[in-house]
Amino acid sequence: MLIKKPPDIKPSEITSKSLFLRRREFLSVSINSTAAIATAGLAGGLLAPSAAQAGTKLQGIVKSPFSTKEELTPYEDVTTYNNFYEFGTNKEDPAEYSKDFKPLPWTLKVEGACNKPGTFQLEDFIKPHQLEERIYRLRCVEAWSMVIPWVGFPLADVIKRFEPTGNAKYVAFTTLLDPKRMPGQTNSVLDWPYVEGLRMDEAMHPLTILAVGLYGEMLPNPNGAPLRLVVPWKYGFKSIKSIVKIAFTETQPPTTWNMVAPNEYGFYSNVNPNHDHPRWTQKKERRIGDLFKRPTLMFNGYADQVASLYAGMDLDKYY
Ligand code: MTE
Repeated sequence: MLIKKPPDIKPSEITSKSLFLRRREFLSVSINSTAAIATAGLAGGLLAPSAAQAGTKLQGIVKSPFSTKEELTPYEDVTTYNNFYEFGTNKEDPAEYSKDFKPLPWTLKVEGACNKPGTFQLEDFIKPHQLEERIYRLRCVEAWSMVIPWVGFPLADVIKRFEPTGNAKYVAFTTLLDPKRMPGQTNSVLDWPYVEGLRMDEAMHPLTILAVGLYGEMLPNPNGAPLRLVVPWKYGFKSIKSIVKIAFTETQPPTTWNMVAPNEYGFYSNVNPNHDHPRWTQKKERRIGDLFKRPTLMFNGYADQVASLYAGMDLDKYY
């Protein structure tokens, strides 16, 4: 992300030539890496590793009324222009250095203030849930954005399953810590593992999802395989990738970018054109693939649905 960045993104960074030229290369990489990933679907062998197929599509997806109708960002851009520091700090690094990452089998722990904590294999964790396609804008704090057809299910449904107690005021998320599989973790640019958190009402909001796929297929490695958070009204760094732990906590959990630079990255990190980042404006953004900037929308365009969560809060103080 953004510790040593110029005050704005140069157009050349947005649609880099190398990125364009590497599209075909990545497509073959993607097919090879999805070969390690399994079939998923509600009808049949959900995530059964033995059923791994190249380019595996997810089955049994229903369309969500929460989807935006905006033009989709091409698959190639979504999967080759990424922030995933576990695989390097350049936008092209995750596609390059996550090629050998094998997300399955994947174990997920649910713990903290809840009646039904547990440890799950990904397949069992997903099984009770109906997969939905949710087309959301993703607005990165660096002032670029994409429109991505995620496949996932509401985090609220997951939370209800684990029966949080009255002490559960926040939900904390942790990314896998495994420098052998995630080579970027040998670099001390961040304090690993990557951690994130939401207030309970944000986590329960119907727009908040856990994603297991995009463009109808299993999550590609650069996008956070095999399980990530997507919170569409917040800056992209809240959408933590490759989650291994979900914990219900009484106090506000630490979050990675807030620990790096608290004056730049707040706990809330709601998309807000009226609160500039100390080093650049948030008033505009560039949709990947576009030449011109467009105005940033309050709460990334989801104000009608989420503004009430922050009623009475000073959004300059709670940025
Ligand atoms: N999660 C982890 N574990 N590590 C990261 O470096 N980067 C964040 C977020 N989740 C990040 C992460 C940032 S800054 C953004 S903008 C989004 O992932 C990017 O998601 P995308 O690459 O799927 O577009």
